[in-house]
Amino acid sequence: MPQPPVARLRALRSVELLTPTFGEAADFYAEAWGLAVVESERDAVWLRGTGEEHHALQLTRSHRVGLGRISFAVATPAEVDEAARRLLARGITPVAGPGRLDQVGGGYGLRFTDPEGRLIELTAETWAVRPRGRDEAVPVGVTHAVLNTADIDASVAFYCDVLGLRVSDWSEHQMAFLRCNADHHCIAFNQAEWASLNHVAYEMSSVDHFMRGLGRLRHHGITPQWGPGRHGPGDNTFSYFTDPTGLVCEYTSEVAQVVEDRWIAKVWRRTPELSDLWGTAGAPSQEIRCHMAGTPDPGPLAAPALAEEASA
Ligand SMILES: [Fe+2]
Repeated sequence: MPQPPVARLRALRSVELLTPTFGEAADFYAEAWGLAVVESERDAVWLRGTGEEHHALQLTRSHRVGLGRISFAVATPAEVDEAARRLLARGITPVAGPGRLDQVGGGYGLRFTDPEGRLIELTAETWAVRPRGRDEAVPVGVTHAVLNTADIDASVAFYCDVLGLRVSDWSEHQMAFLRCNADHHCIAFNQAEWASLNHVAYEMSSVDHFMRGLGRLRHHGITPQWGPGRHGPGDNTFSYFTDPTGLVCEYTSEVAQVVEDRWIAKVWRRTPELSDLWGTAGAPSQEIRCHMAGTPDPGPLAAPALAEEASA
């Protein structure tokens, strides 16, 4: 009998990025990108958007570039405990929890790794913050992460079977868009040569906020490397940038809203007209494609490479 997913994920809460250029990255996200620092330590900083999450982004000083962890919301500590039982039944041992997590933003949660070494966190009861006004053209929070995978079928199977995500659409056999709530996607996988972070997207409240946000970045001397435009799959607006770490970040808005029992997944052809509905963005540059491919990321818990150990 098929086992049920380990939990019902309510939302993507936050993403942690590992960065060797910690100071520059923190300045970029706080001063240009429009996030606000909620807490900072010598080797980490936590930044929020205008939404209800304590933080959308954690930057952690590291000797290597990569994805630290992806954090999803579950409803209650009891669901976290049940998720731990179900993970164990599948032969997956949490690397932390279930229990109170000793971290900024708190939460009752657990962490485990996916088959490519990404660190996944499920939490309930994180610290409440007061939502801020949405007038300013700054991000509400993080809304999706696109992950490069060496095996898109295995990755989609794991995130659907284990985490209960649903496939909203495919872009040929190259990308799969997965949802956990009404938003068309919170995670997308991109078939690539290796596992790495492709990009992290931040939600702008409307297409007007999105465009004004581009204007604010322009005043900081930052122009999009791809965009503005509107994607076919997900129907969301997009503008892609590279942060000081070399990781790609996106402003997006107006992602398609899925009515759960009415949605029928499609396979989109990969044509310029469908990936750029407005025809404003053109083809992505070689440079942004290179940043989206990134470098092989074995995950935050992988043993350091021998060269790194020797230099440590
Ligand atoms: Fe995106």
